Amino acid sequence: MATTDDRPIGVYDSGMGGLTVWRALRAELPAESLLYLGDGKNCPYGTRPAGEIRRLADAAVAALVAEGCKLVVVACNTATAAAIGYLREKYAPMPLVGMEPAVKPACLATRSGVVGVLATERSLDGELFRRTAARYGAGVEVIAAAGTGFVELVERDAEESAEAEACVRRAVEPMLRRGADQIVLGCTHYPFLLPVLRRVTAGSGATIVDPSPAVARRTAQLLDRYGLRASGAQAPRYDFITFADDAYRERLRSKARAAWGE
Ligand code: DGL
Repeated sequence: MATTDDRPIGVYDSGMGGLTVWRALRAELPAESLLYLGDGKNCPYGTRPAGEIRRLADAAVAALVAEGCKLVVVACNTATAAAIGYLREKYAPMPLVGMEPAVKPACLATRSGVVGVLATERSLDGELFRRTAARYGAGVEVIAAAGTGFVELVERDAEESAEAEACVRRAVEPMLRRGADQIVLGCTHYPFLLPVLRRVTAGSGATIVDPSPAVARRTAQLLDRYGLRASGAQAPRYDFITFADDAYRERLRSKARAAWGE
């Protein structure tokens, strides 16, 4: 007989970016309670040394486990790249889902043979990205660029500013000039910049690849495999915690509401 489990799923990011994954999880798994931890105090992670990110990710997962989470989604590419193996080993048998850079679907879908990948510095120089690009990028030109300033813009709710448009242009236009027809968003903050990204890529025919729906589907598979689906007997709860202050927690809550379209 299939078992059920009404404890929440933990969702963790350096800050507000993981809310793009939170939104995909909520859509894919409407019966599940979600406990979101946006560090906030140490954001951005993207330029920190890998060892420091591992320590921060460990503290975050420990906090979510202490709150009673049944599974944790590391909704941060940078923390996944720096720490997922370590976290899986340390917190076994609890399942952990990490962010995959969506290089594989982009390399399979490209017609021009040129794929652009936007991510943080630390994700791009990590083993995970190098391995994935080498594995699926044979015969494809993979152009990687750091989304310099993107995370800070999202954290300031400045996604629609002229500054945001200038930042996105600086990173994306060189990819388009080289013929990229797939632009992979390799950082969970970046889908908040989708309206600007669409403006900048308009007319180029390029597709923007957001991996969050695939991560939500992967989470659903793991819930089934481990017998962890919510029973559906109670309404799901959406809670928010942070290592920053109460004001930041309120901002997480209202950004989540806006991301959900409320
Ligand atoms: N949202 C994160 C990611 O997916 C990290 C951004 C940051 O803190 O630099 O990589």
